[in-house]
Amino acid sequence: MSFSSDPFSFQHPTLVFAPMEGVTDAPMREWMGKIAEFDYGVTEFIRVSESILTKKVFLRDVPEVKAGARTPSGLAVQVQLLGGNEERLAETALVAIRCGARGIDLNFGCPAPTVNRHDGGATLLKYPDRLESIVSAVRKKVPSEFPVSAKVRLGFDDPEVILNNAKRVENGGASWITVHARTKVNGYQPPAFWEKLNPVVQALRIPVIANGEIWTLEDFQKCATDSGARHFMLGRGALANPFLSSSIREFWKTGIMRDREPTGEEWANFFREFVEISAQSKIFGPYTLKRLKQWMRYITVKKNRPWFEATKRTESIADFLQAYETCLR
Ligand SMILES: Cc1cc2nc3c(=O)[nH]c(=O)nc-3n(C[C@H](O)[C@H](O)[C@H](O)COP(=O)(O)O)c2cc1C
Repeated sequence: MSFSSDPFSFQHPTLVFAPMEGVTDAPMREWMGKIAEFDYGVTEFIRVSESILTKKVFLRDVPEVKAGARTPSGLAVQVQLLGGNEERLAETALVAIRCGARGIDLNFGCPAPTVNRHDGGATLLKYPDRLESIVSAVRKKVPSEFPVSAKVRLGFDDPEVILNNAKRVENGGASWITVHARTKVNGYQPPAFWEKLNPVVQALRIPVIANGEIWTLEDFQKCATDSGARHFMLGRGALANPFLSSSIREFWKTGIMRDREPTGEEWANFFREFVEISAQSKIFGPYTLKRLKQWMRYITVKKNRPWFEATKRTESIADFLQAYETCLR
């Protein structure tokens, strides 16, 4: 379900479905768009290295561009690019827009060593000038009606660089910035340092989206208080509990703290619905079982559930579903 007609308006508190490479592919975005209440989602990063990408890449990896940059379930989708060469990024961003993308996000947060070695992702957090010039180059190339944003971490190793880096991103002309509240060196290790976002939220004129370690309604409340942010991105927490975005919205509207979680039966239906969407796809179908297993990891990581152990060695989708359903009996 799509929450607003202009997904990028930031008129009300905004909730964003995070990009997760190898997990949140088009079928997962479509499924999440059915069940959750996000304003928009961001694609997994698309890497721009030696050459300007062609339309073919976007039509394959982001099928939403063929339909108004929304999933069939109505979730708006922003295309994320990753790289360090500003001209190639800018030209590629334009290709994406010409294919039907309605917004571009730039990844300055990926911690993967291979990506960082090739001048992409979080390594750029060491060079504030380059952050500004890359954002500026892409902003100039992309027609002004389409937003260009950036996703950063607090820093590469020093979290204190965030304020300067965020200002550089703003100076480059970004429409908003998403901050994953950890450094590259912190990886994905809890905690997330939400309080470090507070000076950024206070100082910037553009919207600041807070991200990292929001798994429950209680985490959300603490993140909102510590960061002062009004906009939030959820990744693993949304996969672990697809009702989290709805619980947050209900809390906003009514003040009621009701952290609803799917029942075992609801999960069974969710897996079947996802399989129905994913397995039919020529491009994404072959990855369906792998996605189910990755998803199950996030569903069980914070909970004492036997489901991951029961399903991790299954060799077909049918076996996966059966092994899961056996746990319910
Ligand atoms: C497996 C995995 C893949 C990810 N891929 C991307 C990506 O393609 N682009 C990006 O900006 N962030 C990526 N991230 C980071 C997430 O978008 C998010 O910033 C991070 O998981 C923290 O938020 P969370 O605690 O809500 O999951 C990835 C994270 C994980 C765990």
